[in-house]
Amino acid sequence: MLRLNGLRKRFGELTAVDGIDLEVRPGETLGLLGPNGAGTSTTIKLALGALTPDAGSVELAGLGAPTDPRVRRRLGYAPQDLAIYEELSADENLRFFARLQGLRGPELARAVDAAIDVAGLAERRRDPARGYSGGMKRRLNLACATVHGPTLLLLDEPTVGVDPHSRNHLFDAIEALAAGGTTVVYTTHYMEEAERLCDRVAIVDHGRLLACDTVAALLHAHGGRPVVEVELAETPPPGTSLPGPVVDGCLRFVVDEPEMALAELRAKGLSWRSLRVQRADLETVFLDLTGRSLRDA
Ligand SMILES: Nc1ncnc2c1ncn2[C@@H]1O[C@H](COP(=O)(O)OP(=O)(O)OP(=O)(O)O)[C@@H](O)[C@H]1O
Ligand SMILES: [Mg+2]
Repeated sequence: MLRLNGLRKRFGELTAVDGIDLEVRPGETLGLLGPNGAGTSTTIKLALGALTPDAGSVELAGLGAPTDPRVRRRLGYAPQDLAIYEELSADENLRFFARLQGLRGPELARAVDAAIDVAGLAERRRDPARGYSGGMKRRLNLACATVHGPTLLLLDEPTVGVDPHSRNHLFDAIEALAAGGTTVVYTTHYMEEAERLCDRVAIVDHGRLLACDTVAALLHAHGGRPVVEVELAETPPPGTSLPGPVVDGCLRFVVDEPEMALAELRAKGLSWRSLRVQRADLETVFLDLTGRSLRDA
C-alpha cells in the first residue's frame, strides 16, 4: 500500500530521517513508535508528499506519487498539531474538508453526517470548535482526516493530550476504520497504544528504523524472558532445589513458562504471600534495541 525506499531528510545539520525502508501492507495498522524527535512526524510528512525527501522515494501501490492530487484524495492525514478551524463548527470544518476532497451535494452531506458519528460530536456539531475540550478537538481532527473515506490514513499522535474517554473513543473509531479495510499508519510515543491497535510496530530512533514486526515477534526477539519474583511464606527446607536465589525471603528467577515453574514450586510444598511475573513489553524491546528507556529517551 505504501512503500518508503531509503528515505532521508535533513534540516540543516540535523538528519531527521536517516534512511528509512518500510512497506505498509494493505489493510494493516502499522505503528511508528519512537521517543520525542525520533523523526516519526517527518516520516509521515514525507509519505504524504508534504515534504520532499533529500534521498529515497515514496510509492503508493497502484495509486502513484503522493504529490498527484488524485492520489492525495485517497490519503487521509491527521497532523500532530491540530488542523481544524477553531472559529468553525464541527459541521463547517467537515464540510470544508469534504469539499476540498471533491465531495459535493448529497454525497457530501452523507459523509459529514458519518464523520460526525465517528467523532461522537452530534450534540455539539453546530458549536464553534474553539469551545470544545482537547479530546473533542482531537476527535474532530480525526474526523476531518477521514471524511472523504481515504484508503490510507496517516495519523500523527492522534490521542495526544486527550482524556481517557476521548482516547477510548478515538481507539474505537480507528479500530472501526481498520476493520472496514482502511490501511492505517499511526505514530505514537505510547507503547500501550501500539500494543493495542497495531498489527505491526516499527520502532524508530534518531531517524532510523530499528525493527518492524508484530508485537509478539518483537517481544520474542528483543524482550528477553519473563522474570518471576515470589515472596515466600516460609523459608524452604534445606536441600530444596530452587530455580533461583532467595534474597530477603524473595525467590527470583528467569523462566520461559512461569505458570509451569510455579506449579513445580507448589509441588515441592512451597507457598507464597505474593507473586509478581514481569513480562517483557515494548518498553523492554526499546531498551534492548537502544540501551535507553522509551520514556526517558
Ligand atoms: N521544519 C523543521 N526544521 C528544522 N528541524 C526540524 C523540522 N522538522 C523537524 N525537525 C527536527 O527533526 C527531528 C525530527 O522531528 P520530528 O518532528 O519528525 O520528530 P517526531 O518523531 O515527530 O517527534 P515529536 O513529535 O515527539 O516531536 C527533530 O529533532 C526536530 O526538531
Ligand atoms: Mg511528531
